[in-house]
Amino acid sequence: MSMIQKLDDLHKEFQGQIAGLTNQADVLNLKADYLGKKGKVSEILKSLKDASAEERKELGPKANTIKDSMQEMVQDKLTSIELEEINQKLAQDKIDITYTNSVKETGIHHGGVHPRTLIQQEIEDIFLSMGFDILDGPHIEDEFHNFEALNIPGDHPARDMQDTFWFDDPESPEGRKHLLRTHTSTIQVRGMMSRKPPFRFIAPGTVFRCERTDASHEMVFNQLEGMMVGENVSVANLIYFMKTILTEIFKKEVEVRLRPGFFPFVEPGFELDIKCLICSGKGCSVCKHTGWVELLPCGMVHPNVLKAGGIDTEKYNGFAFGLGMDRLVMMKYGIEDIRHLQSGDLRFNSQFKTF
Ligand code: PHE
Repeated sequence: MSMIQKLDDLHKEFQGQIAGLTNQADVLNLKADYLGKKGKVSEILKSLKDASAEERKELGPKANTIKDSMQEMVQDKLTSIELEEINQKLAQDKIDITYTNSVKETGIHHGGVHPRTLIQQEIEDIFLSMGFDILDGPHIEDEFHNFEALNIPGDHPARDMQDTFWFDDPESPEGRKHLLRTHTSTIQVRGMMSRKPPFRFIAPGTVFRCERTDASHEMVFNQLEGMMVGENVSVANLIYFMKTILTEIFKKEVEVRLRPGFFPFVEPGFELDIKCLICSGKGCSVCKHTGWVELLPCGMVHPNVLKAGGIDTEKYNGFAFGLGMDRLVMMKYGIEDIRHLQSGDLRFNSQFKTF
């Protein structure tokens, strides 16, 4: 049989074999069998030296054409296998846009998002867009982080303002008694110690106080702490940030005012009020007919607190605030009793965003 004939046969044989393959590894193996250094095509070409001059002239180009054609077949096959895989994947991952999760149609109850989570996510987005980081901290704290570093020494009356859940801690080293944090200001301390000014962060979290509960008091509630430290930070900066954030949260221009407020870790300290959104300041039961609603305590960070956080008070100062998340949720959704938030009652929870 002439070599040309042999090559043609190989070509056909290859064509037949590759047609039946369905995975890439087999295709590559077949390619090696024919086109590899020791492959069938190379073997034939090796005997080229025995061929006549005339045959050689014809054989060279013919061999190249056949090799090219085989390469092309390999490429086409690999592409079609890949396409097939993608199509299969797409078919499996198909999204059923007619899918419904309504309880009526599926009989399945789906979870929802707690209103507190909804507002927290919204507030986090606003602060992130203003360059704030989001920090976290432990629920179980020691006296240092909850009190001392915040300018509240052992005998300070302010400790009574925050009725504390203490742990029985007979083995703790002297003075380092453990407690459930009474406020998220603990994270101010951790934040200051872990970064260099200038910085700004918020820290949302659950806090605990040993209090009698009523419509506006819970033992477990949520705050969102905020802190900004830098050069020449002023009360005007504080007011600007608060006003901008509250306007975003309530989706309308809010008016704010500051009243003096006492917290050992800020000096001066303020209570920030907003003009009542229910009655626009005319006076109603929500604002107790004053036209203003107390919303968040804040102030310029006390130098003792900055020092405890390792910050150079000659160069830097800052502001801090503590947003009462639960009150904000209540204001935004018109909830009249804080205890609903923790009740776990599905009739309450399912009124908010569900999946
Ligand atoms: N930590 C204070 C509280 O829980 C709130 C606060 C935070 C006040 C920051 C001023 C500045 O009562």
